[in-house]
Amino acid sequence: MKTFCFKPNENLYFSAGQFITISLPTDEGSIHRSYTLSSSPKNNCTFSITVRKVLKGIGSHWLHEHLKSDSQIEFSGPYGRFIPDEFEQKKLLLLAAGSGITPFLSTLRGWRDRGISVDALMIFSIRNPEQIIEYQELKSLCYSIKGLSVIFFPENVEQQSWNGIYGRLDALWLSSLCRDIAKREVFTCGPSLYMQTIKEYLQDTGIGLANYHEEAFISPQQAPIIPLPTEQGSNKFTVYFANSDIKVSCHDQETLLDVAENAGISIKTACRSGICGSCMTMKQSGSVDMQDLGGILPTEENKGMVLLCCSKPTSDIVLDI
Ligand code: FES
Repeated sequence: MKTFCFKPNENLYFSAGQFITISLPTDEGSIHRSYTLSSSPKNNCTFSITVRKVLKGIGSHWLHEHLKSDSQIEFSGPYGRFIPDEFEQKKLLLLAAGSGITPFLSTLRGWRDRGISVDALMIFSIRNPEQIIEYQELKSLCYSIKGLSVIFFPENVEQQSWNGIYGRLDALWLSSLCRDIAKREVFTCGPSLYMQTIKEYLQDTGIGLANYHEEAFISPQQAPIIPLPTEQGSNKFTVYFANSDIKVSCHDQETLLDVAENAGISIKTACRSGICGSCMTMKQSGSVDMQDLGGILPTEENKGMVLLCCSKPTSDIVLDI
């Protein structure tokens, strides 16, 4: 795990929990990867990402092996709606597993820098104690942020000196480590199985998912590829890009992002799967089937905004691009 610090040409204003997409000049050509910001949002002149070197991970490998102190990197963002700060007045439960700690590093560093008090419990699950990222800093953050408690929760402590609790976070552990979980906004970031366990616990206990937030980030290269059906039998619609004065026809299984790009219209994107909100566009008329993963707020939807990457037309459409 390494932390990479960047100095942008212009100040970067972001919220803790958001991510950026960077363009990496690898031997295989330029690739795009998205990483959560791990630095405090209070500092706008520099920002950092904390990246685990993943076996066969081209992006993380390039960063660890090739990034130099004078490298120039292009990036876009910030993106994302996973923002614990929006709920900092409430009781919070922050659940991190492995490198899922990065959005919370930014959150906690921001709280420290703003000197605020919170009512927050963080449970940090890791394989073994050696893998606790920023252990000393996290412990010191507990002293500097009033109302913050952190539980380090390694799964395996064999042959290591560890005096704390350990195990795998399951329903029993969750209910005993956080007895008032039903009263807390729950933010979770980690592997999908880990987040699934937490969601099932909330559903099975009747607490529900109304106060549940997860960082379900999918890098562009991991976005699900949905095969297009044959045109035969699918409905055809027209999409009018009003600002570009381009009208095209499409069928009902194409995303509006594909339709726009095929029409030569450049759209700002990052996740391409309904998470980050970067492709949000105003729809003037028509209806869509939008399968977002939290990248749009109900208020934005009510105003007529749509995420192009996860919306398919169900009628003729007019878009504000
Ligand atoms: S590109 Fe991220 S929501 Fe569409």
